[in-house]
Amino acid sequence: MKHVLVTGAAGFIGSNLVERLLELNYKVTALDNFVTGYQKNIDPFLSNPRFSFIEGDIRDLETCQKACNGIDFILHEAALGSVPRSINDPITSNDVNVGGFLNMLVAARDNGVKRFVYAASSSTYGDSKALPKVEDNIGKPLSPYAVTKLVNEIYADVFHKTYGLDTIGLRYFNVFGRRQDPNGAYAAVIPKFVIQLMNHESPTINGDGTFSRDFTYIDNVVQMNLLAIETDNHGALNQVYNTAVGDRTTIKDMTEILKEYLSAFDPAIKDIEILHGPTRKGDVPHSLASIEKARQNLGYQPSHEFRDGLKEAVEWYWENLNKN
Ligand SMILES: NC(=O)c1ccc[n+]([C@@H]2O[C@H](COP(=O)([O-])OP(=O)(O)OC[C@H]3O[C@@H](n4cnc5c(N)ncnc54)[C@H](O)[C@@H]3O)[C@@H](O)[C@H]2O)c1
Repeated sequence: MKHVLVTGAAGFIGSNLVERLLELNYKVTALDNFVTGYQKNIDPFLSNPRFSFIEGDIRDLETCQKACNGIDFILHEAALGSVPRSINDPITSNDVNVGGFLNMLVAARDNGVKRFVYAASSSTYGDSKALPKVEDNIGKPLSPYAVTKLVNEIYADVFHKTYGLDTIGLRYFNVFGRRQDPNGAYAAVIPKFVIQLMNHESPTINGDGTFSRDFTYIDNVVQMNLLAIETDNHGALNQVYNTAVGDRTTIKDMTEILKEYLSAFDPAIKDIEILHGPTRKGDVPHSLASIEKARQNLGYQPSHEFRDGLKEAVEWYWENLNKN
């Protein structure tokens, strides 16, 4: 039985990975310090004998060493997300996203882990205007968060070259879906707007809404992580992959589609006004991935287009978070 360590397991993406790994009969160890994750996200797994949880911080090397003991594969998700958070507090973002990442690499190396798969980010494309984004052509980072994610890729590459650790970096593009946190100052746009519309509040778009994103449903991200640990194509290792759909939607259109889907549950939502605020610092105007490399090397085939995923996400939020 293969043993996988998922860091950041109480978070959005981590908890979805744990769920799928347990369904597929993997043994799973999970690590999280609950800084942005929730106990309720791991509660359903606690009764599974193949699941164990370590509460701890990746900034502590000893914790990372303990978590990596006996592990075959690592899915490293623990980090402080959000561009604005990193602009407000670059030191903490760096401590967790770079210092914690390095601890995990060292622990993976010391414990003979077979493969280290980690959450990279589309923010690494920075100021590059090229569309679609192709893995080898990146620009300069536009935020401290983007710096941390770029440094992750550089460290992963160096750990392969110097210690022979096999790694795969997955550059996630605006992931959304069940369990993504709608609350707090740093909530992502989709869950934030869903909750506001459900509460009959007007969402505020930063800028005129023409910025676009390759919004990626969680099931596509889970698929990429599984392909990354399961592939026996050695040529696919020690590289980074766009993890996306290969299509883009403007923020304005996304908001209109959200209103349409939510109106099926509550017709009053279709009349809620959308407001506009200033553009946010550090935001990349357009984001669209080429997914050719993932298709060719890993056999990736997104299961959900944006609209299919959004529909499922809206249904989940309505069932789980609607207070009306
Ligand atoms: N959601 C996206 O659109 C997106 C896009 C690009 C990259 N990513 C990356 O994907 C990963 C997962 O993101 P998410 O959206 O699930 O966020 P999330 O905040 O829901 O999950 C992150 C988890 O990591 C944990 N964590 C944070 N600091 C920790 C520490 N010091 N020690 C132990 N655990 C810690 C948090 O408690 C949380 O449970 C992150 O690395 C993020 O940067 C996400």
